[in-house]
Amino acid sequence: MTFQPYDRPVRAAFVGLGRIYDLNVRAYLDNPDVEVVALVDPSEERREQRARDWPGVSTFASAAELADSGLEVDAVEALLPIPLHADGVVELLGYGWHVNLQKPMCNDLADARRMLDASRANDRVLRVMENYLFYEPLRRLREVARSGEIGEVVGYHMKMVGTGRGGWEVPASSFEVQFEQMRNGRGILVFDDGWHKLSTALWLFGPIREVRAWVGTTTLGPGVDLDAPTTIVWEHDNGVRGVWDITLAPDMYLRSDYYTNDERWEVTGRHGFARVNRCTGRGIQQPSLEIYADGEMRSSHALDDDWASSFRDSGRHWLRWLHTAEGPLWWSADEALEVLRFALAVYRSSEDGGRGVDPSTLE
Ligand SMILES: NC(=O)c1ccc[n+]([C@@H]2O[C@H](COP(=O)([O-])OP(=O)(O)OC[C@H]3O[C@@H](n4cnc5c(N)ncnc54)[C@H](O)[C@@H]3O)[C@@H](O)[C@H]2O)c1
Repeated sequence: MTFQPYDRPVRAAFVGLGRIYDLNVRAYLDNPDVEVVALVDPSEERREQRARDWPGVSTFASAAELADSGLEVDAVEALLPIPLHADGVVELLGYGWHVNLQKPMCNDLADARRMLDASRANDRVLRVMENYLFYEPLRRLREVARSGEIGEVVGYHMKMVGTGRGGWEVPASSFEVQFEQMRNGRGILVFDDGWHKLSTALWLFGPIREVRAWVGTTTLGPGVDLDAPTTIVWEHDNGVRGVWDITLAPDMYLRSDYYTNDERWEVTGRHGFARVNRCTGRGIQQPSLEIYADGEMRSSHALDDDWASSFRDSGRHWLRWLHTAEGPLWWSADEALEVLRFALAVYRSSEDGGRGVDPSTLE
């Protein structure tokens, strides 16, 4: 790749102006690294609504219309429905635009390869943004795990409870996409939201050599099968083991400004542990990070633990990266492919009765 860093504001377009635009936009507001030049969505209502954030900006019903308009664009923020990710990204890269894509990258390895090939063929950068890697309590957890403060790491676990009540409004169209994904074996808990948890595992402790999984099903209504209870266990190349339990509590109310997920991460070292108590929702109302070592507990009371800030910081990281090409992309397309492999190893293992699967062996 012959990427040339920009020495002027990046001319950016949003492609997809739905629910998650509300959080991704935070990186673009009052940011001298970027000039938002276009908004794209087939929904006129969405275009009118989002154009109020960017007076005078051009709006288009499709990326093809934007490309035909002659307006100069350097990079796009791709906030497309998941089933459109692969074809959409190939199209956007083909117009010569760098792409910052929302997760999950795509549903299978063949599509991932098409996206990587398009990135190379067009000499454009494809990033698959992972906002969790920018959530301050998790960043601190990673630092603590690496610092030796809790001793050598001996294992960790993640917990997620999908709760049915609370949180912000999610458009019916988003649910329809999720139902389609579920019917294609890519459930909302393991694959959609799970993409984030699998990402944090790779980011915390590196490559994974073996995955064992038991993916369950809970039927909530006709044609609505959710992928819980599910238990996933894995071992990193460095020998550290992780476990993630996913449960569904459809009648539980969870206070949240966003989605209703009760989440935690707990890393155990030879001397103590470090735990992130929450992320998307406001389940446990203690400090978001607690560190125990050798009989003493330390709590972080002033971290930026608003989940939305992780979107702001992930987006700012990308826009800065386009000016420097320095540091990790978190994730590059190649790294996102490893997240996909991890998820696919989960499914393969569960189908094979919990057999250990090496993600690198998947074709
Ligand atoms: N990082 C996270 O935690 C997180 C959370 C929610 C959603 N997401 C991701 O964000 C993406 C969008 O999700 P959402 O919740 O905003 O969905 P949404 O359904 O609310 O919005 C999708 C938007 O895309 C538009 N669209 C459809 N086809 C299009 C096309 N061809 N070109 C341009 N726009 C088109 C739709 O009209 C809609 O406005 C998905 O990839 C999803 O997985 C990520």
